[in-house]
Amino acid sequence: MLPGQEVQIFTLSNNQGVEVRIINYGGIIVSINVPDRNGKIADVVLGHDSLAGYLTRSCYFGALCGRYANRIAGGRFRLHGVEHQLATNNGSHHLHGGLRGFDKVIWIADARDDALKLAYLSRDGEEGYPGNLSVTINYSLTDDNDLRIEYFATTDKDTIINLTNHSYFNLATTRTVLDHQVTIHADAFTPIDDTLIPTGELRSIAGTPMDFNSATTIGARINTDDLQLRNAGGYDHNFVLRAGENILREVAEVYEPDTGRVLTVLTTQPGMQFYSGNFLNGSIVGKNGRPYIKHFGLCLETQHFPDSPNHPNFPSTVLRPGERYHHVTVFKFSVR
Ligand code: GLA
Repeated sequence: MLPGQEVQIFTLSNNQGVEVRIINYGGIIVSINVPDRNGKIADVVLGHDSLAGYLTRSCYFGALCGRYANRIAGGRFRLHGVEHQLATNNGSHHLHGGLRGFDKVIWIADARDDALKLAYLSRDGEEGYPGNLSVTINYSLTDDNDLRIEYFATTDKDTIINLTNHSYFNLATTRTVLDHQVTIHADAFTPIDDTLIPTGELRSIAGTPMDFNSATTIGARINTDDLQLRNAGGYDHNFVLRAGENILREVAEVYEPDTGRVLTVLTTQPGMQFYSGNFLNGSIVGKNGRPYIKHFGLCLETQHFPDSPNHPNFPSTVLRPGERYHHVTVFKFSVR
């Protein structure tokens, strides 16, 4: 953000009493107010009370991540034989777009009744990426409580792209998410090393603590003596979603038994990073003076697989001139 730039806040609301607030700094979703099964409305995402919090601490609360969400090993990749070096901001790796990713830029906003369009032109060379990349995000809210996020981009040079939203959900709002019940429609995940970079393998989830095909609480197996869980301090893994890419289909559900709140995730993306807030350690005091302790929020980052540019067996993240990047993710709220 540059001095003198103004940050605006927008509200999407519907006839169910649901309200979503978004700022054009980082395209950050700052609040999502939804009812529980008794109609009690509460804010189910982590964040800060004021803009200052978002400017000074970066946990990517609610933010748009790009150009490349998640990690690229060593910040390096080759495209047509040319090596590109990206900014490194996660040890020796590139994470969520680099030092000043899409979560830290001002987007040009265009608000309609039930939708907010955000646009950003990422210049050739920004954070080391090739090509001028023109990105548009469309946030909209329906009367069925669907928060729909639509991602579009075009480029003038071959480049790589992987966009996501990094909201941290807590459907209970007052304690950790360990009792939240999670379902993920996936048969495989991408195992990681101890710096959270995929090894390249697609490993079956069968018989492992990664199997969420039937609803399981996050806490049930998170402390299992399992190398993958140890590497990440919990869940911080990309799931290979069933039914491939480019079809908008249901991929995950989160249910919170006390409040009855349900979050259903639909996406056109091939992968989803399930992150159980392992790096939260209480040092960030968020909204309403609440310290965000370990596992206080969970993320369901619909995406292409981490470090794809370095793994030819992963779905491609290359975008070429003349092509249009287009993905949709829906966060649907209900009760039961
Ligand atoms: C993603 C990553 C995590 C962590 C968070 C931000 O979920 O996979 O390892 O970096 O973002 O803290």
